[in-house]
Parts: sequence; C-alpha cells; structure tokens
Amino acid sequence: MSHISYATTTNIDALYQQHCASCHGENRLGGMGPALLPENLKRLRKKKAINVIANGRAATQMPAFANKISAKDIQSLVNYVYTPLPYIPKWGMNEIKKSHLIHFKPGSLGDKPVFKADMLNLFIVVELGDHHATLLDGDRFEPIHRFKTRFALHGGPKYSPDGRYVYFASRDGWISKYDIYNLKTVVEIKAGINTRNLAVSGDGKSVLVGNYLPHNLVVLDAENLKPIKVIPVKDMNGKSSRVSAVYTATPRNSFIAALKDIPEVWEIYYNDKHDKNIEDKTNFSIRRIKLDDYLDDFQFDQSYTHIMGTGRNNKNGQVIDLNLGHKVADLELTGLPHLASGITWQYKGKMIMASPNIKKSEISIIDMTTWKTIKKIKTLGPGFFMRSHENSRYAWADVFFGPNKEAVHIIDKETLEIVKTLKPSPGKNAAHVEFDRYGKHVLLSVWDMDGELIIYDANTLKEIKRLPMKKPSGKYNVFNKINRSSGTSH
Ligand code: HEC
Repeated sequence: MSHISYATTTNIDALYQQHCASCHGENRLGGMGPALLPENLKRLRKKKAINVIANGRAATQMPAFANKISAKDIQSLVNYVYTPLPYIPKWGMNEIKKSHLIHFKPGSLGDKPVFKADMLNLFIVVELGDHHATLLDGDRFEPIHRFKTRFALHGGPKYSPDGRYVYFASRDGWISKYDIYNLKTVVEIKAGINTRNLAVSGDGKSVLVGNYLPHNLVVLDAENLKPIKVIPVKDMNGKSSRVSAVYTATPRNSFIAALKDIPEVWEIYYNDKHDKNIEDKTNFSIRRIKLDDYLDDFQFDQSYTHIMGTGRNNKNGQVIDLNLGHKVADLELTGLPHLASGITWQYKGKMIMASPNIKKSEISIIDMTTWKTIKKIKTLGPGFFMRSHENSRYAWADVFFGPNKEAVHIIDKETLEIVKTLKPSPGKNAAHVEFDRYGKHVLLSVWDMDGELIIYDANTLKEIKRLPMKKPSGKYNVFNKINRSSGTSH
C-alpha cells in the first residue's frame, strides 16, 4: 500500500466537503445519496459504516474510498457523520405548503392528447444521465417528447389509474405531476428533505410520499398535490424511523409502508371500504403490523395478500400475510435478493416467484405455496432486474455487476433454463428490461452516459431498433403498470 498517496487533509469538515458533499449534501441532509445524520444511522453500527466508506456498497452509487482516504481519516469521517447537527431544518406542513408550485391550474389544460398514439402503450423512460425523461410511443418506438426532470429521481414514477398523469419523486423531496396528454409538468411540491419514493392510491385520489428525512409519510391530494396529512413515523415508544419504501395495494384500498428503523410494516387506508376490524374509519388510518425483524424492500403476490421482503442484514427473506398480520414463512435467500424487482408466474400449475440476487450469481425460484426455493439458476453475475409479461414465454434477467455486466439472460418460463444470453453492447452495462402492453416487444437499457435503448421482438429475440439515450435506467409502460402485470413491479 506504500505507493498510495492519501489526501493529507486533517480538517474533517474539508475532507467531507471534498469527497462526500457532492452526493450526501453540504450539510449532510442528503442529495443523490441519503442524509448522513445520527438520526438516520441508527441501524448501521460504526464498524459497518467504516466498511461502507472503505469498500463502497454493492448495487448502489456509494463508491469505495480505501484508496483515497486513510483508515484514520475514515474513522474520523464516521465520527463526524454520527455527530448531531446543531440544527436540522424543519420540514413540516407549513414548509411543504409554502413550496407548492402550480404551473397549470387543474382543469386549465385540454382533455385531449396533443399527439396521436395508443395512450396505453406509451413508455416513460427515465434518463438519469442528464436528469431527463423521454415519452416513447410503444407501437412505433419513436420518442414523442423529452423533458427535464428534477435532480436525481428516486423510486419508479407512478401513473394515475387512467394513465393520463405521471408522478415523479426526487431524492431531495420534490414531487412533480406531469400531464402526458399535454406534455407539461402541471404541479410540484417539496414533500420532504430526503425522500425515498411515492405511491399513487388505487382510486387515483391521493399520493403517499415516504421520507428518510424527516421521519414521516406525507399524504398529498393527487389532483393538485396539496398536502392533506403529515404522518410522523414512530413506534409505540416514540422511536422514530425512516421509510424504506411505500407501495399501493389497490385490491386492499391501502398503501403499504415498510419502515427502516423499527420492526413494523404499516398499512394505511385511503378510503372507508376496508377491513371491518379497523375501528378508526377516518381516511389514512394506520394499521401497525408488528414484526420480529426489519422489513426493507419488498414485493407483493398478485392477490396482495402476502408481501415478500428482505429481513435484517438482508440475510433471509420473510413472508408476511397481510390478512393475518404476521410473518408466515422465512425465505431461503442469502444472496441479497432484489425483491422489489422480482416477478411471479405460473409454473406446472403453481405460482412461483423469481428474484435476482445482488451478491450471488444466481436467480432464486421460490414456490409460493410452500415458500421453498425450488431452483437456483446460475448466471454470469449478480443481477438487479427481472421482467416478463403474461403473453411471453420468456423472463429476462440482467447481469448488473461484475465483469459480465454487458450480458442479459433470457429464461424459458416453462423449463426454468437460460435459453439465450445477449451481449448487445460489449463492455457496457445492459440492464433493466420492460415489455410493451401486448408482450410483443422488449425494451432494454444500455445503462451508460453514451447509452441506448434497444428494442427486441419478444418472440424471435431479434433486435429491431436502437435509440441513443443518456444513461437510460427504468422504463415504465402505462398499460402494464396500471393493470399490475405480473411481469413487472407496481
Ligand atoms: C457518488 C455518490 C456518493 C459519494 C461521493 C459518497 N456517497 Fe456515501 N452513499 C451514496 C449512496 C447512493 C448511498 C446509499 C446506498 C444505499 O442505497 O444503501 C451511500 C451510503 C453511505 C453510507 C451508508 C448509509 C446508511 O444508511 O446505510 C455511509 C455511511 C456513507 N455513504 C458515507 C459516505 C462518506 C463518508 C462519503 C465521503 C467519503 C461518501 N459516502 C461519499 C453515494 C455516495
């Protein structure tokens, strides 16, 4: 290690500003990376924090600093980020209200699309490279419009149930509502300081935002994004928590929120037609489901009865029955599954789920009746996203990490075997696919500043077209998302 020259800075604040501020914010309140405050680091022991800073964190943008910063300075940086700020800016109801930006009053724009296309076969493609999104015609694969988004979008954009509007959340708390018919951002509001993601209710009336900072959930009116309610996230003893993720469970008329720092999952009802057992029938009442383990990211089964999530330190998975209100099974998942991107399908008469693993070169296939792993499909490297469609016999899985990140596997859903491996752009990361509404075409991202969107015929697996894009990450088909296709996340 003698030939490595370290920064000689002794001033820890300067060291932080030099190496960390660009992602975690000058004042540690978060930016592209999460806020670094003792309030938000409760689950991370200092030893682990040293490891994260020295070696980075797999599957995230957190880089390794062992070659740039000495062990002693890393230790000092850890002490620094565990020191409380003298003052954390308040971001409550008043601050949220004051941030409201109405670009176009609801009702002031026309109700007819200003362009011609199948409005349900459109895609929004997020281009992280330069903070833009492209609206794409899913029949002709021609871009319709490219527009600027807020800085560093986080979590998938979500559509209104009719598919006309799309809602975006950025890491720094901005929520934007975009009118696809008129190609305009209509309203925006800053709902938090450091935000995880958002969900749109099944009735299209409300938006729920999950925050890392402050520790709360914010309910917005979906029409104009006016704040309706700020829900502090705390357990019965007053211990507060970040929100790991929020999703909508439309058949249950509820939102589900996973919490990062307390072992509970919350069901939040957005209308009155719910569970008779709940006494408080006011909107947005909370049902606390106590767990014996933390729940990080998760996915639903197609009936929205079960959630399959990762547990403590991501060592195992857990299955929670939302009707019973407790855990019903453990999942054998040791490779850090990326559950939020897993998918389900019928295999030999039973439902199975497939999940890529961030730390293992295999895809786990789990029988959803017994919750046992029935197969591990070996891959060329750890993966991040899997996708399929009801009308396709194939499931697509990327190799997101390691030397083979240029590869994408295509799996036959009937044999659970890899039938083809594509390497569409040698040396560049090929990642995240999404099907069109009919399951006839597949869109694949070459996740690079000098990237592309590649369109394939979903049956012949032949390439049809390439469109240049700036680090295209997720793409979201209106029909598949609003109809909760089992081949994608929702
Ligand atoms: C290029 C952007 C980037 C830079 C630069 C960066 N980080 Fe990070 N960091 C991230 C992201 C993104 C995460 C969140 C990873 C995740 O999702 O688990 C993270 C996570 C962390 C975590 C773990 C937080 C937790 O709650 O588990 C710590 C600690 C951390 N960073 C410290 C630092 C320090 C100290 C520096 C400077 C030496 C630094 N980071 C520089 C992007 C960055």
